[in-house]
This record gives sequence, C-alpha cells and structure tokens, in this order.
Amino acid sequence: MKIEDLVCRGVRALASHKKTEITETYDKMSLFEKAVRMDLNENFLIEEELVKWVLRYVGEHLDPRRYPPAKGIKAVKALSSLTGLDEANLAVGNGADELIERLVNVFVGDDRALVIEPTFEMYEFYITRRGGVKVSCLVNDDLCISADEILRAVNGVKAVFICSPNNPTGIQYDFEEVLRVVENFKGLVVVDEAYVDFAGKSLCERAPDYDNLVILRTLSKAYGLAGLRVGYMVASDDIIKWVKVAEPPFNVNAAAQYAVEAIALRADDFKRCIAKVKEEREYLYSQLTKLDGVKPFKSSANFIMLKVVKEGWNSSKLVNALLNKGVAVRDRGNLPKIENCIRVTVGTRDMNNLFLNALKEVLHGS
Ligand SMILES: Cc1ncc(COP(=O)(O)O)c(C=O)c1O
Repeated sequence: MKIEDLVCRGVRALASHKKTEITETYDKMSLFEKAVRMDLNENFLIEEELVKWVLRYVGEHLDPRRYPPAKGIKAVKALSSLTGLDEANLAVGNGADELIERLVNVFVGDDRALVIEPTFEMYEFYITRRGGVKVSCLVNDDLCISADEILRAVNGVKAVFICSPNNPTGIQYDFEEVLRVVENFKGLVVVDEAYVDFAGKSLCERAPDYDNLVILRTLSKAYGLAGLRVGYMVASDDIIKWVKVAEPPFNVNAAAQYAVEAIALRADDFKRCIAKVKEEREYLYSQLTKLDGVKPFKSSANFIMLKVVKEGWNSSKLVNALLNKGVAVRDRGNLPKIENCIRVTVGTRDMNNLFLNALKEVLHGS
C-alpha cells in the first residue's frame, strides 16, 4: 500500500495544483520573520495600550482548563452588540478562513463554485480541497466587476465568491452590481468584506433580507486580532441555521471570545485606531504617487497595490530587493490582470517611511 492511495481526491488535487503555491508561499514566509512585516495586512495602528487592555481583560476572565463557550456564543453576543445585528443572523468561526471552509462544505461540496479573480487565494484552496471545482471569472480591465459578466459565468455553479474590497486590488465593488448578481443568481453569493471597516459602507445590514447572500467579516484586520482568529458571517436565519449544523462545538477558542467581548466594550477606541489607518493609507498613497517607477492604485482597504513600471524591474525582483532591505511585501504579479503588482500593508508612519525609503533606495539608489 502506498499512503498516497489513501489521500482524498481534493487534497491530491491541491498537491498537484498550482495552488501548492499557497503552502510554498507560507513556508517561505519563515524567511520574512526578521523583516518588517507589511505583507499580511495586519493592523499595527491599534494602540499598544488598547492591545494590552484586551489581553488583561482576557487574562482576568479566562480559565484555560475549561472548554470555550460552545458554538462561540460569547463572541456572537459581543458581535451582536458591536454591530447592532441580530444574533440569529450571525455565526462565528476560527477566522473568516474557517467560515469560507464551512460555506464550501455546506453549500458547494464536490460541485462547482465561481470565484471573481484576481483575488484572495483561499476560496480556491478550500473549494479544491473539498473536491469541488473552482471556475473563474475575471474582473474588467479597470479591475471592477460587471454583474452581466458574472451572470454569464454562473451556469452550473452553486456559489459565487466576491471579495469586496478586493484583496489584493483594494477596490470596493459597486453595491448595485453585487446586488444584481445576488438577485439574479439562483445560488449562494458570498461577499467577503474582510477589509470593509477601512472602506466606509458595508452590505452587512442588507444580508438578512436576502435568502442567498452571505457577508464575511473578520476581526483580524481592522480590530488587530489576527493572532487570536475570529471571523464572522452575516446572513438570513435560514442560512445561519445550516451553517450551524456544520459547526464544530468549540471552534472559537476562549481567549478569542473574551477578546471580542473586550473589543465590544471599547468599540469607540478601536474605531479611532481604524480611522488612523485610513489617514496613513492616504499618506502612503500620496507619497507613492510622487515616486517614479511605481504606479499605486487607490485603495479602500488597509493595503495598497502598486504596479512596478520601472524598466528592468518586475514585481518578484522588487519584492526580493525590498526583503534584502528588511521590508516584507507581497508579490501578486503572477495573478491575472495585475501583472507586476505588489501589495503593501499600510503600517505606522515609521513603517510606511521605512518602506518608502527602501523603495527609493532599490529603485533609484538613494
Ligand atoms: C479577503 C480575505 N478574506 C478572509 C481572510 C481571512 O481572515 P481571517 O484572518 O479571519 O481568517 C483574509 C486574510 O488575509 C482576506 O484577505
């Protein structure tokens, strides 16, 4: 017997698939450990005092000998108070990642799902791993979506994944186009709003009105909780019921649940920090527009995508050169429609200046 013979079809597909790139990328990231991390869209503008206060709150309430509150109920209650949404319209996961996986398990299985690309790679990862097939529809040349194009591509698919604001372009799609897909497609539409706190308006409140719309959110980005793993989804009671059927009892750990409770208690302070990310994003963007050799794109997220346009350079050469200067950014230049683009996380003013100086040095030698 060869052990490979026991491996499930979806996992074999992943192994032979170009998406082993995901594993390779994250394996290589150990090389990034010593660098200033501007490659994972974390939020370093959450003030240290606030982070420490959350950890103290967790420490005071947590008894690690006990299992966490089942079905993430403490986090659900806290999120309901943070968002004003009804508990019946919320479900939590071990990061939004786990919710993507769960939605694939519940609604796609080994069928087909449409992904609007270029985008976050984990939709394809979970669809493939479950034994399903990812079908792709590309954004327009202006990197926006067209409902007509998407509706032409939905034949035979059970779900559509739309990321808005999109990772890695930073573009938030027109609500009317998104809702036109929701209203005319007889399958599930998942709108991943992981970065929407940096954008302004969200489709969350609309989700419970539709029987086929799911909005995904996360506390990893705006709320600085990437290390504790909390994501949530907003949808109609019926969708939530099915998602909960497939929910493991202790999927969200206790520290994470108390941390969400703490965040809800100081929501205004968090919102102040989120506003600072937007200010820093405008600073970084305006500085990048002054630099020859790169073309930044306007962003509604906590990162900026930029195209490398200097002769003799490409995105992978630039990422490596920046890494040698101690700054880690993400190469996205292998994705369709965004050739030669890199993605950089908006950091503190010091981080942003470090990146800008490194960029000037590698591209212009000063
Ligand atoms: C678009 C998008 N959705 C979901 C996630 C996953 O978020 P979480 O940390 O909650 O698993 C990410 C993380 O980078 C993301 O970029």
